[in-house]
Amino acid sequence: MKYIDIANEKLDKIRQRDDIVVLAIESSCDETAVAVTCGRKLLSNAIASQIEIHKRFGGVVPEIASRNHTMAIDNVTKEALAKAGMTLADVDCIAVTYGAGLLGALLVGVSYAKALAFATQKPLIAVNHIKGHIAANYIAKPDLQPPYLCLIASGGHTTIAYVKSLDEIEIKGSTQDDACGEAFDKVARVLGLPYPGGPQIEKLAREGKPSIELPTPYKDKDTYDFSYSGIKTAVINYAHKLQQKGEALNKADLACSFQEKVTDIMVNNTLRCAVDMGVKRVVIAGGVGANGVLREKMSQRAHALDIEVFYPPMQLCTDNGAMIASQAYNMIKCGAKASNIDLDAKANLRVWE
Ligand code: KG4
Ligand code: ZN
Repeated sequence: MKYIDIANEKLDKIRQRDDIVVLAIESSCDETAVAVTCGRKLLSNAIASQIEIHKRFGGVVPEIASRNHTMAIDNVTKEALAKAGMTLADVDCIAVTYGAGLLGALLVGVSYAKALAFATQKPLIAVNHIKGHIAANYIAKPDLQPPYLCLIASGGHTTIAYVKSLDEIEIKGSTQDDACGEAFDKVARVLGLPYPGGPQIEKLAREGKPSIELPTPYKDKDTYDFSYSGIKTAVINYAHKLQQKGEALNKADLACSFQEKVTDIMVNNTLRCAVDMGVKRVVIAGGVGANGVLREKMSQRAHALDIEVFYPPMQLCTDNGAMIASQAYNMIKCGAKASNIDLDAKANLRVWE
């Protein structure tokens, strides 16, 4: 019997169970992450972060990321299994992020997962990273049920998605240029802050005031889309002008003004969309979702509109294996087939694919 037939036969057997054990691997950017879940329950969530390695370059260097994933992946997997008190024999299936992300980095996780799946003859589930970010919410809140509106704000995406069911999403708005996290990282660099910029800007902004005027994109346009390049350029120009005049730049005020503007836009677009659609539940996902001002603002404004807001704890917002395991569980429950050993990574995988 061929591997894929054995895998699908096993998958059909475990599909009915609520205690499916998933070992999930995530290596799309700069975190080598492996988690073990049982149903919606998180048993372990091991992460080897490369932030310290990439910090000195001011951002993620793809080739260095791939090499470090290669070195870390086996140990992180062993750590995840040990923390869960399990061995590979206890695992029902192997899940892996196959896109979107850095191609070389993704390939490390995909190759490792394929080898594990084939060696153990267990089903392999190929997971979309962005759908994984959304699914992180089911780990944090197991009774969460679609439909709801989800703001996905990460280093590579800024999207408003209507999650109709566990396997159906509809895109309502997307960034037309930079992703929100990307803008945080670029502005941080201008302010001389280390990578990743989001948490650094959030920290510095606490000491500042939102006193600097920045542009609002698509002000008079009827859209839920985003644009961050104009705001980013305005921040850069503002800093350069002061520099040329030899005047001191109040970095905290600039960080605060930037954060206020981008969080305002995310909250306004998401809640306007929710009101227009008559949706009463909003969920936040992705690395920028760890931002306290965004969480607070969304909760407060939504409350006034009688809309319920939910977001995962910070460690489930940034990249992790638990979110990939959670999405794999959803896929299995929705009848997904196992992937074959020729599974390839897809750097530009789109949100809805
Ligand atoms: O979801 P994520 O971990 O990776 C991607 O899939 O891209 O998101 C990483 C992004 C980075 O741009 C980082 O600066 C941003 O999330 N981020 C934050 C915060 N924590 C992480 N942005 C704003 N405030 C934060 N507290
Ligand atoms: Zn991510």
